[in-house]
Amino acid sequence: MDEKVYTQSMLKDNAFEGKTIVVTGGGTGLGKAMSKYFSELSANVVITSRKIDVLKNTAEEISDETGHEVLPVQCDVSDYHQVEELLKESVEKFGKVDSLVNNAAGNFISPTERLSNRAFDVIVNIVLKGTYNCTLAFGKDWIEKKQPGTVLNIITTYAWTGSGYVVPSAVSKAGVLALTRSLAVEWAKYGIRLNAIAPGPFPTKGAWERLLPGDLVEKFDFKNKVPLRRVGEHQELANLAAYLISGFSAYINGETVTIDGGEWLQGAGQFNFLEALPKDMWDSIEKMLRKK
Ligand code: HXC
Ligand code: NAP
Repeated sequence: MDEKVYTQSMLKDNAFEGKTIVVTGGGTGLGKAMSKYFSELSANVVITSRKIDVLKNTAEEISDETGHEVLPVQCDVSDYHQVEELLKESVEKFGKVDSLVNNAAGNFISPTERLSNRAFDVIVNIVLKGTYNCTLAFGKDWIEKKQPGTVLNIITTYAWTGSGYVVPSAVSKAGVLALTRSLAVEWAKYGIRLNAIAPGPFPTKGAWERLLPGDLVEKFDFKNKVPLRRVGEHQELANLAAYLISGFSAYINGETVTIDGGEWLQGAGQFNFLEALPKDMWDSIEKMLRKK
């Protein structure tokens, strides 16, 4: 097997023929990578965020490459009225929506005591409020029209561990995890599935500029925190996302799939720090322990 098979497309061509997928934050980073892949698989893709110029450029770039139309729609997901307009425009253009990917986010590092209440609000409004706004608007529409649907929420591994220095993001992602699990049960009867992906480090301009500014990028190289000693490739996340919104994952509901090379478990395991011990130290430790 090719050792970098994860950089290749996983699903078959045309897997999303006739499907419409809305990706929030689809103009940049991981949202763009997922949107491009869904389009390669023949989906109608709607990308949305606050910056219409960025969206238009991405839409054009993707459709030039894939030959499938990508609709850019300006929408601030923290505003419910704009989300309703996004739904309306998507349905008017493509007839129906099959999947929603809640990927839009805001984040930056800061000691929490330095944050104003507005700084806290702005992150919660994008990540948590934006996700429930979209989920509620699209979910209500599916229920009313008796249509099935899938929702995929992009969270993080600190949704369950918590993390200092990104506290507004951590509380918001934890809320999104609770939303995913709660509605997976409540809305299953309507044929609506919800799942989440918790990515480890995947280099993107948006995340790296705000989480590793200046020389922090050299000081805290994320790959050193990952047991597999590498960061993620966008295509492997796109492969997982495509699987989770597709009918191939029909029995997976309320699940969070972690894709982080083992990063969060390395931080969690009590004795994982012993990784740092060299072989000769293990030889003397073994001798000491066996004597006892
Ligand atoms: C303290 C800060 C601050 C900082 C902003 N604020 N930056 N406070 N330290 N570094 C405060 C401002 O002073 C203001 O409060 C409030 O936050 C809102 O700031 P604005 O710039 O007016 O807001 P806005 O223009 O809406 O921008 C939102 C943003 C910005 C979140 C601050 O970074 C953004 O648009 N981000 C979108 C993309 C993004 O963040 N991508 C990264 C996702 S990565 P006051 O009180 O002064 O008005 C991710 C990865 C997780 O989630 C895991 C990785 C491993
Ligand atoms: P990114 O490129 O900065 O993506 C964030 C997107 O959200 C941008 O396109 C931004 O576009 C959009 N957005 C922000 N506020 C919005 C709002 N109010 N309404 C609509 N859209 C808004 O960063 P990324 O790394 O690709 O992150 C994508 C997702 O992956 C996020 O959920 C992030 O938490 C998650 N994640 C990333 C990593 C990583 O290592 N990269 C790790 C774990 C989780 P506009 O500015 O145009 O609005």
